[in-house]
Amino acid sequence: MSIKTIITSAFAVTAAVCNAQVYLDTKAPMEDRVKDALSRMTTHEKIKMLHAQSKFTSAGVPRLGIRQLNMDDGPHGVREELEWNTWSPARWTNDSIVAFPSLTCLAATWNRNLSATYGNAISEEFAFRGKDILLGPGCNIQRTPLNGRAFEYVGEDPYLAGEILVPYIKAAQANGVACCLKHFVLNDQEIDRFAANVNVSDRALHEIYLAPFKKAVEQAHVWTIMGSYNMYHNVHCCHNDLLINGILKGEWKWDGALVSDWGGTTNTWEAANGGLDIEMGTYTDGKLKESEFGYNDYYLADPFEKLINEGKIPMSVLDDKAARVLRTIFRTAMNPQKVIGSQCSEAHYQACREIAQEGIVLLKNDKAILPLKADLYKKILVVGDNATRSLTLGGGSSELKTLRDISPLEALRQLYGDKIDFAQGYDAGRALYDQVDKVDPARQEQLKEEALAKAKDADLILFIGGLNKNHKQDCENGDRESYDLSYGQNELIAQLAKIQKNTIVVTFGGNPYAMPWISQVSALAHCWYLGSESGSALCDILSGKVSPSGKLPVTFAARYEDYPYVKYGAKAYPGENKQVHYLEDVFVGYRHFTTSKVKPLYPFGYGLSYTSFAYGKPSVSVNGNKITISVDITNTGKAAGKEVAQVYVQAPKSSIARPVRELKAFAKTKTLNPGEHETLTMTLDKDELRYYDETIKGWALTQGSYTFHVGASSEDLRGKATAEVN
Ligand code: GLC
Repeated sequence: MSIKTIITSAFAVTAAVCNAQVYLDTKAPMEDRVKDALSRMTTHEKIKMLHAQSKFTSAGVPRLGIRQLNMDDGPHGVREELEWNTWSPARWTNDSIVAFPSLTCLAATWNRNLSATYGNAISEEFAFRGKDILLGPGCNIQRTPLNGRAFEYVGEDPYLAGEILVPYIKAAQANGVACCLKHFVLNDQEIDRFAANVNVSDRALHEIYLAPFKKAVEQAHVWTIMGSYNMYHNVHCCHNDLLINGILKGEWKWDGALVSDWGGTTNTWEAANGGLDIEMGTYTDGKLKESEFGYNDYYLADPFEKLINEGKIPMSVLDDKAARVLRTIFRTAMNPQKVIGSQCSEAHYQACREIAQEGIVLLKNDKAILPLKADLYKKILVVGDNATRSLTLGGGSSELKTLRDISPLEALRQLYGDKIDFAQGYDAGRALYDQVDKVDPARQEQLKEEALAKAKDADLILFIGGLNKNHKQDCENGDRESYDLSYGQNELIAQLAKIQKNTIVVTFGGNPYAMPWISQVSALAHCWYLGSESGSALCDILSGKVSPSGKLPVTFAARYEDYPYVKYGAKAYPGENKQVHYLEDVFVGYRHFTTSKVKPLYPFGYGLSYTSFAYGKPSVSVNGNKITISVDITNTGKAAGKEVAQVYVQAPKSSIARPVRELKAFAKTKTLNPGEHETLTMTLDKDELRYYDETIKGWALTQGSYTFHVGASSEDLRGKATAEVN
């Protein structure tokens, strides 16, 4: 027998004798590690893992060397460090980070590769800050353009939402940082967010609202999910047995840990039996001082332990929760593959800038006024509060403390020097969170007059406005109160355009808005929120260094009343007596506008380039479960650019009221130079064509002839192909 064998077997014997710590063996199968750890833990140790021990951490098992879980916001970058047990900043001097573009901006890129770039870069910053769980991304559906948190989400279409988030989640988790997909589910408005009960058909629940979560579970194996504050079937979603145990952990067989939203847990019995695994932020709604309750008072702490010890709840319920938490710890905090990461690296700034460049959507460009031919102009007047305002502060839990935050005005001055003049034009207040904007009318008038006076000497006006991160703009815990832009922007834009027809409007914001002035301005670009490189990316587009290639992930209706839920009144939004009814059912966004033939101002999927593209005749082939669509895209213009080909599928006629067509595939070309072409090949699984049949409480496929429309937007169809699907 070789020496090696003798030694190995000696080890094996020793290990067996001293009860080998399999849970510490990072090469052992995950489930063996989990089982072994569980077998060594006391009931109290299992309980302590199920709730917060500070504002953003939950306990491990120090006795066994099992690490705690460090969590942090948010979807666009690592939040500044807060004190251990309060919402106050810890005033660190080394926690300034890269603010990445908002997720709606990422959605607007329609670029899966950039989504992976995003997930990799942001998780490196989370790892560097010692975080195990990134509290994001978000995929609640943009059913109303007033939702205060839409900027954190990925648009109105569940297919685009899922496709854009899967690469982000995969890349982040490959670095050993768990994503925490949120908010599960139906948290599609901020009004009454803690208590609104959402009434929605099973079909719309599955086809629209659960769909992105399902894709993230099945294709990205997202490791944690955050329950939402609101209710479904009058039960809070953070511990909703039907949604969590029935669908998420049951039907979808999800093995991750369900984390509550902060303060989203409301009672022990439901939390124990409704599928909650980690209770965070209870009472942190400010009703009680931290000293009035300890972490042992949490619903899943002493009260739950008591029920276990009295045998009122079986140990198996506790073991399942603890197993899910252990699995998350072994996947992150105790994962030797977890990266060290980096912070504020040039690679991260480059990623930020690329995503921002490709997320900017050019909506109007009369007489090709863009890209800017700067030497045509002597004086370019920049007007608007968003030309200088930091849009990474505010907005709620996703706010960020940055090292670099290049404003549009700064970048424009770097590029065009003293050709650039500036007038603020209006005051947008500083009402972060729940203060209300107190802007002085006299000051508004004065700022407007100054801008109009300067406009007379300018031969080009660049208006930079839109929404911001104030309360009741794009901000958590409140919705917008109007579809209009605030602070008198509409009047100011109209008056500026009257003085100078060369007026270009650039807006920031997470939501669509009304544009009464659109026919009077020459060009319009919408930027969502661009993060640390805002100004640089905007100038890359305005100067023509990069052709715009963003496409709308949400419909811009001409009038607020055109959104599908509005005709049903308050009960459809924002609800009555905290009951919200999604009466538009599956006809959300373009599903409504295309099916009901209501013309939007700018349709879902729309976005201009500095060049033009021709679409060849699409072809489609069905091979078993796989459907392949291909189309040739040629750059027929004079500038280089990228195009996004979108496939909208029209199902055969049936008794089911289905949207006339639905997005089921898309692909973005590489940069095509004038004359160049690329054949895009898109595949989709036949399952994507099913609808949810409430009579069988499951998915069903209509057999027959399907039409695959290929287009440059949901309204601009360039070709089609049909195929029998059975
Ligand atoms: C907030 C948000 C959630 C965030 C959490 C921690 O209320 O709803 O998205 O991650 O609390 O800040």
